Amino acid sequence: MAYPKPAPDHILIEQTPSGLRRWCAARRRAGETVGLVPTMGALHEGHLALITALHAAVDRVVVSIFVNPTQFALGEDFTRYPRTEAEDLAKLQGLGVDVAYMPTPDVMYPTGFATEIAVNGPLTQGLDAIARPGHFTGVATVVGKLLLQAMPDVAAFGEKDYQQLQIIRRMARDLDLGVEILPVKTVRDAHGLALSSRNAYLTDDERQVARQLNKILAKTAKALRAGTPGPEACAEAAQSLLEIGFSSVDYVAFADSDTLKPLAQFEGAGRLLAAARVGNTRLIDNIAVGNIETEL
Ligand code: PAF
Repeated sequence: MAYPKPAPDHILIEQTPSGLRRWCAARRRAGETVGLVPTMGALHEGHLALITALHAAVDRVVVSIFVNPTQFALGEDFTRYPRTEAEDLAKLQGLGVDVAYMPTPDVMYPTGFATEIAVNGPLTQGLDAIARPGHFTGVATVVGKLLLQAMPDVAAFGEKDYQQLQIIRRMARDLDLGVEILPVKTVRDAHGLALSSRNAYLTDDERQVARQLNKILAKTAKALRAGTPGPEACAEAAQSLLEIGFSSVDYVAFADSDTLKPLAQFEGAGRLLAAARVGNTRLIDNIAVGNIETEL
């Protein structure tokens, strides 16, 4: 696959695990710390926030761009997932990223590839693990590979994919990967819509509907804080989403922030998570439910 030439003075494009490993090892030998932001490209302000957070934490920043086929189920949007490599590289260059790691599928999954990382337990017993069977095994496997290839000191992940973040934390701990997982707050547009590469699919009308998701979550968080039981508050939220124009709701759930086990009642803390479709576009979002009102 041909990628645009790197601009003269700065960003390095690596396409193989051995090239990336050599570069990261050389930086570490030079006494520098290395950070990794795994992405699937189509970079937006949310990704840029991950990069900025990492710049503050380490000396060198690597961003991987790889649309990982194994985390998409049959019939999902793998083939139409936005691919904007030239724009992505220009953005990374502008942000002073050191390396863009852009492996090809045959490099990541060569013929005969037969290994998976499956995170079990409560983190993968609900929510997107049910709505998207196999998704998190694909995510854990590719993120595990990327972390082993780069061996970064720190890796940044967005809170927007909250279940993914918790699963990756669990995996990094369980496999002693020796990497700090840095969570970064969700970036939202002026109407509170969580930024996502999939927002590119939305028509203007659909975007108006999509912008209600965070508002309904905020309202539901208020109801939970006021004592409405978890299942009741979530059922009401799902109903409101449908009434407002969402075409289907996979879940609205109130759960423990660490284990993601469902909570019957608000007792000082928890996470409210939702997945719903506008037209054919699937959106996810989540907010912390704490003793003070969450700002969106
Ligand atoms: O969040 C994403 O974009 C992807 O799931 C990730 C972590 C880059 C793995 O492919």
